[in-house]
Formats: sequence, structure tokens, C-alpha cells
Amino acid sequence: MHVKSLALRGFRCFPSTEFEFDRGVNVIVGDNASGKTSLLEALFLLGRGVTFRSTRLRDLIHPEADRYNLRAVVRDQHDLARKVSIEGYRNRREFYLDTQSNVSRFDLVQCLPLQLIDPDVHRLLEEGPQYRRRFMDWGVFHVEHSFFSSWQRFRRALIQRNRALRLGWPNKDIVSWDPALVREARQVDSCRRGYVDDIARNLPTAIRKEFTGVPIHFDYRSGWPTNESLDQALARTLERDKKAGFTQIGPHRADLRITHGNVAARDKVSHGQQKLLTSGMLLAQARVMANRRGVTPVLLVDDIAAELGARYRALLGQELTSLQSQVFITFLDRAFIPNTLGYAREIELSVPSRGSPEISKKC
Ligand SMILES: Nc1ncnc2c1ncn2[C@@H]1O[C@H](COP(=O)(O)OP(=O)(O)OP(=O)(O)O)[C@@H](O)[C@H]1O
Ligand SMILES: [Mg+2]
Repeated sequence: MHVKSLALRGFRCFPSTEFEFDRGVNVIVGDNASGKTSLLEALFLLGRGVTFRSTRLRDLIHPEADRYNLRAVVRDQHDLARKVSIEGYRNRREFYLDTQSNVSRFDLVQCLPLQLIDPDVHRLLEEGPQYRRRFMDWGVFHVEHSFFSSWQRFRRALIQRNRALRLGWPNKDIVSWDPALVREARQVDSCRRGYVDDIARNLPTAIRKEFTGVPIHFDYRSGWPTNESLDQALARTLERDKKAGFTQIGPHRADLRITHGNVAARDKVSHGQQKLLTSGMLLAQARVMANRRGVTPVLLVDDIAAELGARYRALLGQELTSLQSQVFITFLDRAFIPNTLGYAREIELSVPSRGSPEISKKC
């Protein structure tokens, strides 16, 4: 799975630019504001249908354009070419796949699975459980076909149950949603649990070794007490749920606790170690996907060198290279490129005085 080429028109700082990529590691080098993150953002949009920068839709459009257009040729695991494109207007986006217009975000996600490792990667450890649920669910979605439909059915039952709780309906109307909710929750739970075991097994050994002999442990929490079944727990918490007006337990409250020895890793390991560990978790996701689906996601790595010393940079460079994925990795300065990173193409971006990036490519 790799992106062969990309054409950007009216996107951020790119008025009109085309790139050809290597199927291995592509290094993008450039000064501040030269467009490195914007280039990764364009690729991310094509694979996810949303941006990782929290901006308004119109902020993506170049000042001299009325919309942007992104067009990529993607080669799938069988080396078949697929055309993915996006038209971005001030208030909406339209997605295209080959000759089909107005396809959904999920079609893009299936066509171009990609993973982002950016300077905020440690938030996976530091922030609330929703970050880790997103991490698990993105991964499970790509390797377990039944997961998405179970998750959708679970959400529907949950929304209806919460509505009944909020509107103060009689108990029998509230609990009438429980059988469906419990059935789908079990499926979601079992997919996530198996997936977390896979992640733990695939965490790169070299990264695991950095934690001075104390084991890193992934402890999946299903969202209800382990000593109870979900139906028992729902029955027990019914009165509390009625007061709160929503269902307080279930897979929507799941978490992934990451511990170093017996202590939460976020409270113990250094900032650099947090980045290394969370990057390792994302690389483990890519490995699990390659093992279970025969598809290697494209990896977008933005500015990871910024806060990592030479040893951690070398370690990550080696792990990225060993994955055999297509990688796009940005550097502010060539001096930060670790020599363990076996890259095939270098794309240099620069900011000319008139404001739109100049590009030179070296192979
Ligand atoms: N809609 C837009 N139109 C034109 N330029 C934009 C738009 N959105 C962002 N920019 C500009 O694009 C330039 C490139 O931004 P980008 O974040 O891609 O740079 P970068 O190379 O990642 O920089 P850094 O190394 O500082 O992270 C910036 O000057 C930014 O202000
Ligand atoms: Mg940047």
C-alpha cells in the first residue's frame, strides 16, 4: 500500500504543486513554514477525510483560490492503482474514489489506511480515555470486519437508552434496550481485548528495552467492573443512571491503562520516553495490520525529531525502516535525520519571499 503521486491545488500554502513519491521512506526537509505539515495534512485528509489540525474548513483554502483540490494515485497491496481525490469548499468536502463521486469518509479510510505520529503523540498517554479508545477502535476497525457494525448497533442502542433515561420513561422502557446493548457491547469488548493483546505482543522490542527492565503493561478496562457481567452492572446502576440521565457504564467508558511496573506510565516515564512509547504503540498498530490483513498503513511522521535525542531518533529511524511501510517523515534540518533511517527519496521544501513553497526533489 503506497501513495504514488499527489497533486495539490489551492491547498494551504500550495497554489499548485505535484509530487512523485517512493514506496519506501520519503524524507521531507524544510525550514519553518515551508509546508511540511501541510503536505502530511493533505495525505491525511485523503486517507481519513478529516484533518488533524482543528481548523475551519475554509482555513485550508489558499487565499487566491475559491476551493482546494487534492488528487492522489494510490497503489493497493495487489499493486492496483486507485485514484483518490477531494474537492474542498468553504463549507463542505467532497470525496471521490476512481470514477465514483461523493463516496463516504469510510471508503477513503478503507482505501488508504494511514497512521500519524506527530509532536502530540504522547497525548495518547497523557490525555483522557477517549484518545486511547480512538487508538483501539481505529486499529480494530482495520483488522476485525465485524467490529464496525457491532459498534454502530451498540451506539444506536445506547442513544435510545440514554433518551429514555433523559426523558424519565418507565424502567421497562429503559431496560428494553439492554439486551441489544449488552449483545453488541460483548462483541465490541472482545474485539478490543484481543486487539490490545496483539498491540502488546507487537510493541517493538528495542523500544520495550528502553524501560530499564521494568515491564510496560497494557491493561484493557472494558468500562464496567470485571467481577460483574454487563447486564448485572446495568441493573445495579439503573437508579444512578436515571438520576444522571445517561448510561454510565459500558464500552463507551472503556480505557487502556498503560503501566510501567505498577505505576501509570504517564506519571513515571520521561517526556522523551512517553514519545518513544506512544510512537511504538502506533508502530505496533501498523505491524498488527500488516500481520492480520496483509496491508501496511502509510506512516506520516511529523517533526518527531524535535524533542528526541540522537539515540531515540536512531531507534525510531530503525523501527520505521524495518516496517516496510511507506513513510513520510519531516525534518526541520538535515542534521536530525538519523543514519538508521534507510530513505529512498528526499523532498526539500523552502519558503520563497513571495510565500508559496519552492520544491526541489532529490532521489
Ligand atoms: N490556507 C492557507 N493559505 C496559505 N497559506 C497557509 C494556509 N494555511 C496555512 N498556511 C501557511 O502555510 C505555511 C506552511 O505551514 P506548515 O505548518 O505546513 O509549515 P511547516 O513546514 O510544517 O512549519 P514548521 O516547521 O514550523 O512546523 C505557513 O506559513 C502557514 O501560515
Ligand atoms: Mg510543521
